[in-house]
Amino acid sequence: MQLEELLQQNKITLPEDIRLLCFQAIDFMSKAKDPIHDRKHIFRMLSDLQALLKNSSEITMKKINFPVLLLTICWHDVWRSGFFPTNLISLFFTLLWDGIGGAFKFLYFANKENLNNSTKNSVFRIISDHGVFRLFVKESLEQKIFFDLDFLEEYNLIRIVNLKARFLNNKSRSLLRLGKFYFEHFLKKPY
Ligand SMILES: [Fe+2]
Repeated sequence: MQLEELLQQNKITLPEDIRLLCFQAIDFMSKAKDPIHDRKHIFRMLSDLQALLKNSSEITMKKINFPVLLLTICWHDVWRSGFFPTNLISLFFTLLWDGIGGAFKFLYFANKENLNNSTKNSVFRIISDHGVFRLFVKESLEQKIFFDLDFLEEYNLIRIVNLKARFLNNKSRSLLRLGKFYFEHFLKKPY
């Protein structure tokens, strides 16, 4: 589902600077080098969010801070989308820096847009916390929703098939070994 569709279907109005930032992130994701961190990953998360909102009460809808949630969904993998690991070192580098790299990438563009501090800090905190390092213990509603949506995506079949194809279509033996390592250690179950 595209962002515009989600906004219309749920009558969500985003301030102009936040709309711009969300679409800027999707634009970055459309040039992704990594097949599992592309704009389709974001669109599927928006579809899952739509399914969740459809079953949510009016009260829950009012409690969700949509600027924070949507900015987080759109920006969380922008940094990661710029790389496709080709060896173990680059794989661990992207995994270790996933949260921090993503948070600072968002911060740079949020500052350029003069985004208000409260929204900026909330999004920064959630994105920086979605990597292997968990810095903040307290979870907000937006963080919980975001984590669940992103977790669902880890086992999306289309994503896994695309990733497998990227590893298999390459003649490099080291890339094949890396693919084997990745699937054995990071996507062991339920496949
Ligand atoms: Fe993600």
